[in-house]
Amino acid sequence: MLIEIRSFRQEDLGDLYQIAVLTGHAGDDATGMYDDPKLLGHVFVAPYTINEPDLAFVAVDASGVAGYAIGSRDARVLERALETGWWHELRNRYPYDAAGTDPDQWLIERIHRPATAPDEIVDRYPSEFHIDLLPRCQGHGVGRQIIDRLLMALRQAGSPGVHCGVDPRNLAAIGFYQHLGFERIDTAGPPIFVRTL
Ligand SMILES: CC(C)(COP(=O)(O)OP(=O)(O)OC[C@H]1O[C@@H](n2cnc3c(N)ncnc32)[C@H](O)[C@@H]1OP(=O)(O)O)[C@@H](O)C(=O)NCCC(=O)NCCS
Repeated sequence: MLIEIRSFRQEDLGDLYQIAVLTGHAGDDATGMYDDPKLLGHVFVAPYTINEPDLAFVAVDASGVAGYAIGSRDARVLERALETGWWHELRNRYPYDAAGTDPDQWLIERIHRPATAPDEIVDRYPSEFHIDLLPRCQGHGVGRQIIDRLLMALRQAGSPGVHCGVDPRNLAAIGFYQHLGFERIDTAGPPIFVRTL
């Protein structure tokens, strides 16, 4: 399979939003699940590409952008930047209805009450990332290649360790992280996978 791993460019953003939908249901297709499908990208893609575009990489095949790995050098620094930047802007566009039960509200809650990893994890593993590949490039070694590229960039940026929250239903991703030497830490929220750099 001919795949190029390259740095993210701003014009890739629409493709990343689409990939977030096509892999947004515990690794499977979330098409039709959300009234506003852009919410997945707003919550899981843009925070990273806006604030730390140098830590964003894409996998490109003959049909175009087919996956991404995006990260943050320090999750706490990113959280502070989002409070005054991206979340602040989105909160006006997406008011939160605490009584709402539809899937969109679950994502809107993430905008108003962002999920944060516990201090004992972030202290040792401050960096954070997301990786999503379209089905056509899964299972061909692309996940390993693109995550290696991102972890190398984080190591070069001086990070001592990385963490990633995973939907407990996403058994394929859990197997992938375990195979790559990540350690699972169970928390009150979703399990978090960590690795020193
Ligand atoms: C999870 C995901 C990133 C893995 O990427 P991938 O390209 O399919 O994985 P690779 O082919 O690079 O596999 C790398 C290695 O992990 C192993 N591996 C992959 N999935 C595995 C699993 N479920 N269990 C055990 N080993 C696994 C491979 O055998 C391979 O081993 P090797 O390099 O030693 O030969 C990708 O499938 C994906 O994006 N899935 C949908 C979205 C998603 O779930 N994202 C993660 C959200 S937390």
